[in-house]
Amino acid sequence: MPPSGKNKSAAKDAAKKKDKDAKGRAKREAKHAAKAAKGQGAKPAAAPSSPLSQQHALPSYLDPAHLGPWGIYLKQVDRVTPYLGHLAKWVETLKHPKRSLIVDVPIELDDGSVAHFEGYRVQHNLSRGPGKGGVRFHQDVTLSEVMALSAWMSIKNAAVNVPYGGAKGGIRIDPRQYSQAELERVARRYTSEIGLIIGPNKDIPAPDVNTNERTMAWMMDTYSMNIGATATGVVTGKPVEIGGSLGRREATGRGVFTVGVEAARLIGLDIEGARVAVQGLGNVGGTAARLFAEAGAKIVAVQDHTGSLYRASGLDMEALLAHVRDSGGVGGFKKADKLSGDEFWGVDCDILIPAALEGQITEDNAPRIKARMVIEGANGPTTPGADDILDDKGVLVLPDVIANAGGVTVSYFEWVQDFSSFFWTEDEINQRLVKIMKDAFHAVWQVAQQHQVNLRTATFIVACSRILLARELRGLYP
Ligand SMILES: NC(=O)c1ccc[n+]([C@@H]2O[C@H](COP(=O)([O-])OP(=O)(O)OC[C@H]3O[C@@H](n4cnc5c(N)ncnc54)[C@H](O)[C@@H]3O)[C@@H](O)[C@H]2O)c1
Repeated sequence: MPPSGKNKSAAKDAAKKKDKDAKGRAKREAKHAAKAAKGQGAKPAAAPSSPLSQQHALPSYLDPAHLGPWGIYLKQVDRVTPYLGHLAKWVETLKHPKRSLIVDVPIELDDGSVAHFEGYRVQHNLSRGPGKGGVRFHQDVTLSEVMALSAWMSIKNAAVNVPYGGAKGGIRIDPRQYSQAELERVARRYTSEIGLIIGPNKDIPAPDVNTNERTMAWMMDTYSMNIGATATGVVTGKPVEIGGSLGRREATGRGVFTVGVEAARLIGLDIEGARVAVQGLGNVGGTAARLFAEAGAKIVAVQDHTGSLYRASGLDMEALLAHVRDSGGVGGFKKADKLSGDEFWGVDCDILIPAALEGQITEDNAPRIKARMVIEGANGPTTPGADDILDDKGVLVLPDVIANAGGVTVSYFEWVQDFSSFFWTEDEINQRLVKIMKDAFHAVWQVAQQHQVNLRTATFIVACSRILLARELRGLYP
């Protein structure tokens, strides 16, 4: 039914108010211009005050009262909309995942009984190319989480300008409760079930939480068996022996280091002698910490699931990483003082790298952070409230959607190499990775300066503009 005259004028008023709110937010961001220009953070716009469920047409399968991570993502899109110019016309595209597939994954357990697991594959946006994003095995995975993660992959891929859309997958399973043989059956059946929508030209999964090279080998093999031909390009993060890429394992940490060095130069922070604290010494944090140490920085504090360590003169990273490899964590390392888990966040340092879990920098510990710069190696390590506190303190935050994009960048190289069946040297891969990361970071920095916003909002401006321009150029089918 067309809107009545009364409804029309109410809609006009609402549109005017929305416009005014958006301008107000933009002004508040502009207020922090000087800070950003000095390399300090600018305050992000205030989140809209009315509930998201009233502002957005939500899919029927989400509970408006418990939107979860999808709700956070929607707020981020709202925040960036005033900067999208004429492309804002297409912004609803970003709020509606293109395709969400829920699958049942039944397997026979080792004891002969049958178990069923819920699996998801969400393709958020494919305007710029095939879907790309990891698959996680975790007992708490939800559709809302996979939707948000797939959307953040759209943003990340567009931010570093690799020709992919965003996708993500997950299975609700606690992998610690199952044998390798059972996990193989889960991975294979899940791959078959989502086989309808994945493929080297459609959507290319990769490892994520609790999945690894082994899982990718099973997924590649299952897909290949189903189509009757070896399709190495269907997943990335594979073992090098079956089409994986050199440099992939270290790529995310190398990207973290690369953008960190660029940002440090822009704010006049010398890496030589800079004091660095790292949470998580796994794939991402371990590589980033090693590269910073090799560049002359002092790793003064580390934390992982086994403990927190401090040494003012800098930890011996070679010895510490060997200890982690041998014992599974930093706990028990002798040449350092112990810290409590909470003390870690208040350590005197120049650079803080959260590279473990999401939601680690909170409104509770953010006020105590002394670093000049936070580099988000992990996905979503800073809560929105903590983000605002860091901005107010003038801490420069290099957001996950740019800082940890090195992994997907080398995944892109892996896919390209698989298509051409021609493999590059590790040096070539690292050089290309560093160039892409530097170019992407400087493009984001420039946008932050131009609009006087923080780097998270700037990354969203760059990425959403690229996605929506692709949408506009392609036009709406049919
Ligand atoms: N590996 C990649 O290519 C990649 C790419 C992009 C983003 N990320 C993100 O980076 C983060 C780390 O991934 P990773 O691949 O290095 O994982 P990983 O499993 O190799 O390492 C995780 C680290 O976190 C630590 N950790 C776990 N629980 C902790 C706790 N409660 N407190 C403190 N530390 C804890 C572990 O001890 C370990 O050092 C994740 O958020 C992941 O999503 C990874």
